[in-house]
Amino acid sequence: TWDSSSIVDEQVRAIREQVGDRRVLCGLSGGVDSAVAAALVQRAIGDRLTCVFVDHGLLRKGEAEQVRTDFVAATGVNLVVMEESERFLSALAGVSDPETKRKIIGREFIRSFETAARRIAGDRGVDLLCQGTLYPDVVESGGGDGASNIKSHHNVGGLPDDLQFELIEPLRALFKDEVRAVGTELGLPEAMVWRQPFPGPGLGIRIIGEVTRERLDLLREADAIARAELTAAGLDREVWQMPVVLLADVRSVGVQGDHRTYGHPVVLRPVSSEDAMTADWSRLPYEVIERISTRITNECPQVNRVVLDCTSKPPGTIEWE
Ligand code: XMP
Repeated sequence: TWDSSSIVDEQVRAIREQVGDRRVLCGLSGGVDSAVAAALVQRAIGDRLTCVFVDHGLLRKGEAEQVRTDFVAATGVNLVVMEESERFLSALAGVSDPETKRKIIGREFIRSFETAARRIAGDRGVDLLCQGTLYPDVVESGGGDGASNIKSHHNVGGLPDDLQFELIEPLRALFKDEVRAVGTELGLPEAMVWRQPFPGPGLGIRIIGEVTRERLDLLREADAIARAELTAAGLDREVWQMPVVLLADVRSVGVQGDHRTYGHPVVLRPVSSEDAMTADWSRLPYEVIERISTRITNECPQVNRVVLDCTSKPPGTIEWE
């Protein structure tokens, strides 16, 4: 059995050893993993850590604000925010293929990082890049133990071949529940530690089809409604995560108000899981599903159908792309 305070001690020691007197840059995604990784590095080396938050325009509602305020308030970390949605969206224009989207997003992340690193450190440079890579990410990206590549994971910054930074990945041997315990041990706020997982490529891989600003705005609204209802029902900890997916290239006929519509379906993908490597679809109470469905179709006029994904992983992955 492990305990979180000894993991913290051990990691702090390892980080100090790896970093020496150098400087570290850490990308924050808004998620638990990068927040805990950053908090660990900060515990180890203090203000020789600078965090970068890339707002790529693929975030959920309220996410950027959460990082700017809550995380900084909890840790007092140095934070640089890069406003990059224009660049990401133009790089993604016309692209529907999932792996291509992931590669583009990963590549643009690196550009943002390199720019941030130059801006922060000037001529001195930053030496190491901290990533919140977990054990399951290592396995699923085909790294480490030679497992097959299921999806290219881009944990804020991805793993570029041509990157000039040395990597530091303090969570590489941990599973999510261990990461949460470490986060709690480090004093991070509960809302952050228990936040449901959200992929680095963000809503970009939850729009099936081309990613556009209008589609993002639509999905952001639908997702915010679904999340609010899940929270209101007290199901946040029971459900591992609930991707909301916009089938942007699919249209179906509906009737809203007293006229015929030709809108898009939105998929709810609630799953329960221990580590995201396998998952079961969550049997949400019908009343909760009903409330989400009613609200989304009322409040998002372009959506005229809400469907439920009842597939386990395997065979389905958690995300649709
Ligand atoms: P899949 O879709 O492979 O997802 O069943 C497993 C878990 O990983 C998350 N995920 C990602 N997380 N970068 C991340 O940081 C990514 O590129 C990425 N792709 C998927 C997904 O949300 C789920 O929790």
